[in-house]
Amino acid sequence: MSYPVTLIPGDGIGPEVSKAARRAVDATGVKINWEIAELNPEVIRSTGQSLPPHVIDSLEKTCVGLKGPVTTPIGEGYTSVNVALRKRLDLFANVRPVRSLPGVVTRFQDVKIDMVIFRENTEDLYSGLEHEVVKDVVTSLKVITRVASSRIAEYAFKFAADAGRKKVTAIHKANIMKLADGLFLRCAREVAAKYPQIEYKELIVDNAAMQLVIRPEQFDVLLLPNLYGDIVSDLAAGLVGGLGIVPGANMGENHAVFEAVHGSAPDIAGKGIANPTAMILSSVLMLIHLKELSAAMRLQAAVETVYANQKHLTRDLGGTASTEEFTDAVVAQL
Ligand code: NAI
Repeated sequence: MSYPVTLIPGDGIGPEVSKAARRAVDATGVKINWEIAELNPEVIRSTGQSLPPHVIDSLEKTCVGLKGPVTTPIGEGYTSVNVALRKRLDLFANVRPVRSLPGVVTRFQDVKIDMVIFRENTEDLYSGLEHEVVKDVVTSLKVITRVASSRIAEYAFKFAADAGRKKVTAIHKANIMKLADGLFLRCAREVAAKYPQIEYKELIVDNAAMQLVIRPEQFDVLLLPNLYGDIVSDLAAGLVGGLGIVPGANMGENHAVFEAVHGSAPDIAGKGIANPTAMILSSVLMLIHLKELSAAMRLQAAVETVYANQKHLTRDLGGTASTEEFTDAVVAQL
């Protein structure tokens, strides 16, 4: 049996790390029928659409995507492809496991960090509803709904219960945004009441940021609206060695798109030095989704062994290995 999967290489370091992930998945022996869908600034400019039909058509058909990062112009230009894709396929849950890897030297290497971030993925300040009221006065609308807040809370608590996790921490700024974050919290509390076996905590986002840096080991499952989830994901990545190693999954009712937390990293694109771990571990999440659990475990173990051996670390982690050399080492383990 072979699984149809849409592979979106993206741009910047995207094609380099996507190629690595594809090699790693193929080396597990799981048969994937990769359908390549190009999505990058050139395709967007030439088609005049931030979400060209060939990408959506492919994902509608395969229902599973492995996606490299796509650049979004800053402060001008077309709207974010990533936000558009998440909204179009209703990929409401952004799930990001942040774990210490063996052999990675960080300021927190003596602490075991093992948290899973659940970021609401469809609304909040990412609604793109901005307008200039009068010259030099701009408003940006933060949209929080009961439907989306309850849905992400349910998803996080169900995961916590299924995975035997102990605690869910909801992160908010309801002291200031009493209505918007207040609604998010109310929904989280309602869902928490259905899971008495799981400890439920709330933290104001600024305090959460400090607590994450001071005592990251206290965190288990984190539940956040879109913007805080975006920022806290990068902060958490920094605790375990950086953006090169943290994977992610965008989950909907019918579709799932797996992608690293990191962006297109234009500063290192085309040099063959990007760390492909985040993309490879995103493909581990994809294999779990495809119920190929043994292959997922083998690939995860192969990555961990390469790290434990410390011989093929990429430059972001103090090594000298290229993207390809790291991938060769993972494939050799498999
Ligand atoms: P970035 O994540 O691309 O890079 C931040 C820093 O981390 C850079 O110094 C980069 O070299 C480093 N880095 C990231 N991934 C790495 C890897 N795999 N190996 C080694 N080092 C790595 O964030 P930035 O610069 O803010 O964004 C660049 C572009 O990416 C923007 O256009 C942004 O909109 C887009 N982006 C796209 C995402 C997606 O497609 N899901 C997610 C985040 C950003």
